[in-house]
Amino acid sequence: MTDLILGQVLRYAGDPFVDGLSAAQILGQGAVAIEAGRITAVGEAADLRARYPRARLHNHGRKLISAGFIDAHVHYPQTAIIASWGKRLIDWLNTYTFPEEMRFSDPAYAQEIANRYLNLILARGTTTVCSYATIHPASVDAIFTAAQTRGMRLFAGKTCMDRNAPEGLRDTARTAYDDSKRLLEKWHGIDRLSYVITPRFSPTSTPEQLQALGALWRDYPDCLMQTHLSEQTDEIAWVKDLFPQSRDYLDTYEAQGLLREGAVYGHAIHLTDRERARLVEAGASLVHCPTSNTFIGSGLFDMTLATKLRVGLATDTGGGSNFSMLHTMAAAYEVAQLRGQSLHPAQLWWLATQGSARALSCEDRIGNIAPGMEADLVVIDLASTPAIEQATRRAEDLWQQLFPTIMMGDDRAVAEVWVGGKRIPD
Ligand code: GUN
Ligand code: ZN
Repeated sequence: MTDLILGQVLRYAGDPFVDGLSAAQILGQGAVAIEAGRITAVGEAADLRARYPRARLHNHGRKLISAGFIDAHVHYPQTAIIASWGKRLIDWLNTYTFPEEMRFSDPAYAQEIANRYLNLILARGTTTVCSYATIHPASVDAIFTAAQTRGMRLFAGKTCMDRNAPEGLRDTARTAYDDSKRLLEKWHGIDRLSYVITPRFSPTSTPEQLQALGALWRDYPDCLMQTHLSEQTDEIAWVKDLFPQSRDYLDTYEAQGLLREGAVYGHAIHLTDRERARLVEAGASLVHCPTSNTFIGSGLFDMTLATKLRVGLATDTGGGSNFSMLHTMAAAYEVAQLRGQSLHPAQLWWLATQGSARALSCEDRIGNIAPGMEADLVVIDLASTPAIEQATRRAEDLWQQLFPTIMMGDDRAVAEVWVGGKRIPD
């Protein structure tokens, strides 16, 4: 059975940061055909209706059909501590994060939060995330099982920490390697799930643990590796104390085999020239987490990097202050404004879809609307509240129509979500 979704279709023929804004293409009266979980055709509504006369029709009028949002850096176990007041990174971890992550020693709690988290993000149009779990293997099982049940493409890994974390949240170099390997072999490539090797960040791993995870990554080179890099200046000073031999923060990873294509670094705000050059040379990915970077007081990401390497966009739940990628795009816009750059809606939307997909090396599967891509879609109401509706009245093109939803939209703007060719909930 073919499903035919009708509306305004937004798709990308290239990267708007590199190829210009014409890389974004809009079909005013477009259609997307879906069969067996994949997009089989995209084009003018009249053409596709003629081509698929027996298709089940879903007519969304002037609503926008886009690839589902991809949130490239989250901590699902921090769902319940989102919006916790008054701390900067290290204090925030010790006061709110670590006590909450301790609770994941209970597999039932991990399952409860994993399911709650995925329901929250799907309601906001996010169809894929790349998540940290906790050090507990059962927390990885919980998020993969919850995603598998929903047919989602999802990336996750066990967070590894063998120092500077409380008793109960520490593993060792050996157990981090063994547990990660076992989880990787259990989940990686099963259905739409991918395992990600996950040292939390250099302050909570000994060089021995980083080395063990570097060895694991060499044995499983098609996995991604995720960690944090240069988020706050205090953190960078701490890394300098902990790793006196290293040239800089990036070097603490590079020295242990944790820098190459497939490395996904969250935040990456306060980079040296050497670090930038090495990241570009190595083909690494960076993830911009704008609500987190303002909420925890970290700093302003340099978006000009998007012309040089892969940059994704993320909420960084629960350091970030909102589950919504619309809200995250708004924050990315504001952060860029503070650095003297005005990001175009076509660029913001690209970051939340193809940009994040590319940062996670899955842009050939998700993050765009094209034949052969997996059918993860979001349908956006461009007039979801009276405030947004009145702001769109003078719009002369789709971008002017869309921008108020980027800046003011929330879950009310999400009219429909499709995951793997199925409508949620169906
Ligand atoms: N650096 C190390 N761990 C974390 C975390 O959980 N959140 C954020 N924002 N930064 C981190
Ligand atoms: Zn993070």
